[in-house]
Amino acid sequence: MTNKLFFTFEGPEGAGKTTVLKMVVSKLQEEGKEVIATREPGGSVIAEEIRQVILNPAHTEMDAKTEALLYAAARSQHFVEKIEPALKQGKLVLCDRFIDSSLAYQGIGRGLGIEGVKSINEFAIGQRMPDMTILFDLDPKIGLARINAHKNREINRLDVESLAFHQKVREAYLKLAEEFPERIYVIDASQSLEEVFQNVWKVLKNAV
Ligand code: TYD
Repeated sequence: MTNKLFFTFEGPEGAGKTTVLKMVVSKLQEEGKEVIATREPGGSVIAEEIRQVILNPAHTEMDAKTEALLYAAARSQHFVEKIEPALKQGKLVLCDRFIDSSLAYQGIGRGLGIEGVKSINEFAIGQRMPDMTILFDLDPKIGLARINAHKNREINRLDVESLAFHQKVREAYLKLAEEFPERIYVIDASQSLEEVFQNVWKVLKNAV
């Protein structure tokens, strides 16, 4: 398990992905690695503009297919503009959410089906899957309680979906992990931030 470059962090809202990603980036930089941190939807100017359209809480009439296509459009732009060039330069890329979010949220959460969502994403990014994906697994009840406790966090259009929606998303992620055990590592995100970080670091340090 050596020389992996492209890492994605996945999981529900409130699982600590973003915070742990920042901690991992600092640690990698301390070790002298060249690393870029990025996120989806967004990560480049055009993709961030698409993000504003997708996540705007006022856009309640957005059709599920439109939503899936916009995530894929943002991903295509972000991939071509930022991820691919960094990988070509041999840099480590750590991305907060990527294709598995679309498979879980749009494919299963929205009920569009994994196959359809996979195919629009293959059109967007070709066959380039992450080398390793860390799945922060958490009961959505805990995740939603955590984000509600952080009053300064922006609440987006998907946060306000029902608990049943978020439970479907969790199950979808766990199924993906079963399907791709060589790529997706499941981390118990109900532990303390420090424990979660240590567990992520254990997996990641052996891969870079
Ligand atoms: P964000 O504020 O970045 O959420 P988080 O902090 O939980 O990562 O919002 C991203 C939202 O978009 C989140 O609710 C998950 C959703 N999403 C999808 O539904 N499909 C996707 O392909 C991506 C990348 C995100």
